[in-house]
Amino acid sequence: MKRFDVIVGDITQSDAQAIVNAANETLLGGGGVDGAIHRAAGPELLEECRAIGGCPTGEARLTTGCRLRAKYIIHTVGPVWHGGQQGEPALLASAYRSCLELAAAHGITTVDFPSISTGVFGYPVMQAATVAERAILAFLEDHPEMHQVRMVCHREETARIYRQMYNFWFAATKADRLDVEHKG
Ligand code: APR
Repeated sequence: MKRFDVIVGDITQSDAQAIVNAANETLLGGGGVDGAIHRAAGPELLEECRAIGGCPTGEARLTTGCRLRAKYIIHTVGPVWHGGQQGEPALLASAYRSCLELAAAHGITTVDFPSISTGVFGYPVMQAATVAERAILAFLEDHPEMHQVRMVCHREETARIYRQMYNFWFAATKADRLDVEHKG
Protein backbone atom coordinates (compact mmCIF):
# COMPACT_ATOMS: atom_id res chain seq x y z
CA MET A 1 0.00 0.00 0.00
CA LYS A 2 1.40 3.39 -0.96
CA ARG A 3 1.32 5.81 1.97
CA PHE A 4 0.41 8.60 -0.46
CA ASP A 5 -1.61 8.01 -3.59
CA VAL A 6 -3.75 9.83 -6.14
CA ILE A 7 -6.84 8.04 -7.43
CA VAL A 8 -9.91 8.89 -9.50
CA GLY A 9 -13.27 8.29 -7.87
CA ASP A 10 -16.28 9.42 -5.92
CA ILE A 11 -15.17 10.17 -2.37
CA THR A 12 -18.61 9.30 -0.97
CA GLN A 13 -17.83 5.66 -1.84
CA SER A 14 -14.46 5.70 -0.07
CA ASP A 15 -13.37 2.81 2.16
CA ALA A 16 -10.97 5.00 4.17
CA GLN A 17 -11.63 5.46 7.90
CA ALA A 18 -12.19 9.16 7.30
CA ILE A 19 -13.04 11.27 4.29
CA VAL A 20 -12.55 15.00 4.11
CA ASN A 21 -15.31 17.39 3.09
CA ALA A 22 -14.48 20.65 1.30
CA ALA A 23 -17.11 22.69 3.13
CA ASN A 24 -17.78 26.37 3.77
CA GLU A 25 -17.60 28.21 7.10
CA THR A 26 -21.25 27.53 7.95
CA LEU A 27 -20.80 23.73 7.67
CA LEU A 28 -24.43 23.65 6.58
CA GLY A 29 -23.87 22.07 3.16
CA GLY A 30 -23.52 23.39 -0.35
CA GLY A 31 -22.80 22.17 -3.87
CA GLY A 32 -19.86 20.19 -5.23
CA VAL A 33 -18.33 17.52 -3.03
CA ASP A 34 -20.04 19.03 0.04
CA GLY A 35 -23.48 18.46 -1.51
CA ALA A 36 -22.53 14.94 -2.62
CA ILE A 37 -21.32 14.02 0.88
CA HIS A 38 -24.44 15.38 2.58
CA ARG A 39 -26.70 13.51 0.13
CA ALA A 40 -24.86 10.23 0.63
CA ALA A 41 -24.47 10.57 4.41
CA GLY A 42 -28.12 11.43 5.03
CA PRO A 43 -29.87 14.19 6.99
CA GLU A 44 -28.23 13.17 10.30
CA LEU A 45 -25.06 14.79 9.01
CA LEU A 46 -26.69 18.21 8.83
CA GLU A 47 -27.81 17.81 12.45
CA GLU A 48 -24.27 17.02 13.58
CA CYS A 49 -22.88 19.95 11.60
CA ARG A 50 -25.46 22.33 13.00
CA ALA A 51 -24.42 21.39 16.53
CA ILE A 52 -20.79 22.24 15.73
CA GLY A 53 -21.72 25.79 14.72
CA GLY A 54 -19.30 26.50 11.87
CA CYS A 55 -15.59 26.30 11.10
CA PRO A 56 -13.14 29.10 10.20
CA THR A 57 -11.16 28.85 6.95
CA GLY A 58 -8.05 26.69 7.39
CA GLU A 59 -9.44 24.72 10.32
CA ALA A 60 -11.22 21.34 10.55
CA ARG A 61 -14.06 19.71 12.50
CA LEU A 62 -15.02 16.05 12.97
CA THR A 63 -18.37 14.30 12.61
CA THR A 64 -19.31 10.67 12.27
CA GLY A 65 -19.71 9.25 8.77
CA CYS A 66 -23.48 8.72 9.29
CA ARG A 67 -24.59 6.47 6.40
CA LEU A 68 -21.23 6.44 4.63
CA ARG A 69 -18.77 3.55 4.70
CA ALA A 70 -16.21 5.92 6.18
CA LYS A 71 -16.50 6.04 9.96
CA TYR A 72 -15.73 9.76 10.12
CA ILE A 73 -16.06 12.90 8.04
CA ILE A 74 -13.53 15.65 8.60
CA HIS A 75 -14.99 18.95 7.48
CA THR A 76 -12.55 21.64 6.47
CA VAL A 77 -12.81 25.00 4.76
CA GLY A 78 -10.30 25.89 2.08
CA PRO A 79 -9.69 29.48 0.96
CA VAL A 80 -11.53 31.20 -1.87
CA TRP A 81 -9.01 32.04 -4.60
CA HIS A 82 -8.51 35.82 -4.91
CA GLY A 83 -5.41 35.70 -7.12
CA GLY A 84 -2.94 34.17 -4.66
CA GLN A 85 -1.78 37.27 -2.77
CA GLN A 86 -4.25 37.05 0.09
CA GLY A 87 -2.78 34.21 2.09
CA GLU A 88 -4.41 31.47 0.02
CA PRO A 89 -1.45 29.02 0.03
CA ALA A 90 -1.01 29.24 3.82
CA LEU A 91 -4.73 28.78 4.40
CA LEU A 92 -4.91 25.81 2.03
CA ALA A 93 -1.88 24.16 3.68
CA SER A 94 -3.48 24.80 7.06
CA ALA A 95 -6.72 23.11 5.92
CA TYR A 96 -4.84 19.93 4.93
CA ARG A 97 -2.70 19.95 8.07
CA SER A 98 -5.66 20.57 10.37
CA CYS A 99 -7.52 17.60 8.89
CA LEU A 100 -4.55 15.29 9.37
CA GLU A 101 -3.91 16.51 12.92
CA LEU A 102 -7.55 15.96 13.81
CA ALA A 103 -7.42 12.48 12.26
CA ALA A 104 -4.27 11.56 14.17
CA ALA A 105 -5.76 12.86 17.43
CA HIS A 106 -8.65 10.41 16.95
CA GLY A 107 -6.50 7.42 16.04
CA ILE A 108 -7.57 7.52 12.39
CA THR A 109 -4.93 5.99 10.14
CA THR A 110 -6.44 6.25 6.62
CA VAL A 111 -7.75 9.52 5.18
CA ASP A 112 -9.13 10.41 1.74
CA PHE A 113 -9.12 14.03 0.56
CA PRO A 114 -10.98 15.70 -2.29
CA SER A 115 -9.22 18.48 -4.18
CA ILE A 116 -10.02 21.24 -1.66
CA SER A 117 -10.80 24.75 -2.99
CA THR A 118 -10.39 23.85 -6.69
CA GLY A 119 -14.09 23.80 -7.60
CA VAL A 120 -16.49 26.55 -6.53
CA PHE A 121 -13.64 28.34 -4.65
CA GLY A 122 -11.60 28.68 -7.87
CA TYR A 123 -8.08 27.73 -6.70
CA PRO A 124 -5.99 26.74 -9.77
CA VAL A 125 -5.44 22.97 -9.60
CA MET A 126 -1.72 23.04 -10.34
CA GLN A 127 -0.99 25.44 -7.48
CA ALA A 128 -3.42 23.69 -5.14
CA ALA A 129 -1.85 20.29 -5.85
CA THR A 130 1.61 21.54 -4.93
CA VAL A 131 0.38 23.02 -1.65
CA ALA A 132 -1.72 19.95 -0.81
CA GLU A 133 1.04 17.46 -1.50
CA ARG A 134 3.68 19.44 0.37
CA ALA A 135 1.42 19.55 3.44
CA ILE A 136 0.46 15.87 3.24
CA LEU A 137 3.99 14.59 2.65
CA ALA A 138 5.40 16.70 5.49
CA PHE A 139 2.75 15.26 7.80
CA LEU A 140 3.45 11.67 6.71
CA GLU A 141 7.15 12.12 7.39
CA ASP A 142 6.44 13.23 10.95
CA HIS A 143 3.65 10.71 11.64
CA PRO A 144 4.61 7.11 10.91
CA GLU A 145 1.34 5.99 12.52
CA MET A 146 -0.64 7.46 9.59
CA HIS A 147 -0.93 4.50 7.20
CA GLN A 148 -2.36 6.08 4.08
CA VAL A 149 -3.52 9.42 2.70
CA ARG A 150 -5.09 9.59 -0.75
CA MET A 151 -6.24 12.35 -3.04
CA VAL A 152 -9.55 11.18 -4.52
CA CYS A 153 -10.14 13.24 -7.64
CA HIS A 154 -13.53 13.26 -9.28
CA ARG A 155 -12.07 13.85 -12.73
CA GLU A 156 -9.19 12.12 -14.47
CA GLU A 157 -7.80 15.51 -15.54
CA THR A 158 -7.55 16.64 -11.91
CA ALA A 159 -5.82 13.40 -10.90
CA ARG A 160 -3.40 13.81 -13.79
CA ILE A 161 -2.34 17.22 -12.45
CA TYR A 162 -1.91 15.91 -8.88
CA ARG A 163 0.27 13.06 -10.20
CA GLN A 164 2.24 15.44 -12.39
CA MET A 165 2.93 17.84 -9.51
CA TYR A 166 3.87 14.94 -7.24
CA ASN A 167 6.34 13.65 -9.81
CA PHE A 168 7.70 17.12 -10.51
CA TRP A 169 8.25 18.32 -6.95
CA PHE A 170 8.32 15.36 -4.62
CA ALA A 171 8.81 11.92 -6.17
CA ALA A 172 12.61 11.98 -6.32
CA THR A 173 13.08 12.81 -2.67
CA LYS A 174 10.13 10.96 -1.15
CA ALA A 175 9.75 7.87 -3.30
CA ASP A 176 11.88 5.56 -1.22
CA ARG A 177 10.01 6.50 1.93
CA LEU A 178 6.43 6.68 0.66
CA ASP A 179 6.02 4.41 -2.37
CA VAL A 180 6.50 1.35 -0.23
CA GLU A 181 4.40 -1.12 1.68
CA HIS A 182 3.36 0.16 5.07
CA LYS A 183 5.09 -2.06 7.57
CA GLY A 184 2.98 -1.12 10.60
N1 APR B 1 -15.83 12.96 -5.00
C1 APR B 1 -14.62 13.55 -5.11
N2 APR B 1 -14.44 14.80 -5.55
C2 APR B 1 -15.54 15.51 -5.90
C3 APR B 1 -16.84 14.98 -5.82
C4 APR B 1 -16.97 13.65 -5.34
N3 APR B 1 -18.16 13.05 -5.22
N4 APR B 1 -17.71 15.93 -6.25
C5 APR B 1 -16.98 17.01 -6.59
N5 APR B 1 -15.66 16.75 -6.40
C6 APR B 1 -14.50 17.62 -6.64
C7 APR B 1 -14.64 18.71 -7.67
O1 APR B 1 -14.49 18.17 -8.96
C8 APR B 1 -13.44 19.60 -7.30
O2 APR B 1 -12.26 19.11 -7.92
O3 APR B 1 -14.18 18.32 -5.46
C9 APR B 1 -13.30 19.38 -5.80
C10 APR B 1 -13.63 20.56 -4.94
O4 APR B 1 -14.70 21.29 -5.51
P1 APR B 1 -15.89 21.90 -4.64
O5 APR B 1 -16.75 20.80 -4.13
O6 APR B 1 -16.52 22.96 -5.45
O7 APR B 1 -15.14 22.52 -3.34
P2 APR B 1 -14.40 23.95 -3.13
O8 APR B 1 -13.79 24.48 -4.35
O9 APR B 1 -13.54 23.74 -1.91
O10 APR B 1 -15.58 24.93 -2.77
C11 APR B 1 -16.23 24.83 -1.53
O11 APR B 1 -18.36 24.66 -2.50
O12 APR B 1 -20.38 23.67 -2.36
C12 APR B 1 -19.58 24.43 -1.80
O13 APR B 1 -20.22 24.28 0.49
C13 APR B 1 -19.13 24.25 -0.37
O14 APR B 1 -19.18 26.61 -0.31
C14 APR B 1 -18.33 25.48 -0.34
C15 APR B 1 -17.58 25.47 -1.65
